[in-house]
Amino acid sequence: MEEAKRGWDEEPVSRRVFVGSALAGSALAAAAGVFYPLARYLLPESKSGGGKKETYSVALNEVHVGEARFFTFKRKPALIIRKTQTEVVALSAVCTHLGCIVKYHEEAKQMQCPCHGAKYDQTGRVLGGPAPKPLTPYSARIEAGNIVVEEA
Ligand code: FES
Repeated sequence: MEEAKRGWDEEPVSRRVFVGSALAGSALAAAAGVFYPLARYLLPESKSGGGKKETYSVALNEVHVGEARFFTFKRKPALIIRKTQTEVVALSAVCTHLGCIVKYHEEAKQMQCPCHGAKYDQTGRVLGGPAPKPLTPYSARIEAGNIVVEEA
């Protein structure tokens, strides 16, 4: 009898606790749903992925003087340009206007965007068109018969 009365008396309190816990849990889940993607977007990959720098390497004799080689770097298209026997450049191949992939024109020694006509020189500097800023440069060097690309 006593137990039934106590249960009856505690029911409103239990309901409040339950509803409060459910609301707190829902608010926590909603906050995690908002902040986790935001944090993943804002933090550079190297910080969220353990701080390891990405590198790319290709044999020097696979890229002839004056040619460009496209590759994937940091999960995005990039290119190496072998300017001379001893000079190489690595750049993002993503146009800074609206994100199309640039093409390399060997004779003109420049990258051109097929979407809206932006033009870049071999260092990534804007030569014309709507591109608001240069192509992103990466660190590139010749080492032991290879071209090695790293994050700048
Ligand atoms: S996306 Fe390259 S010029 Fe517009």
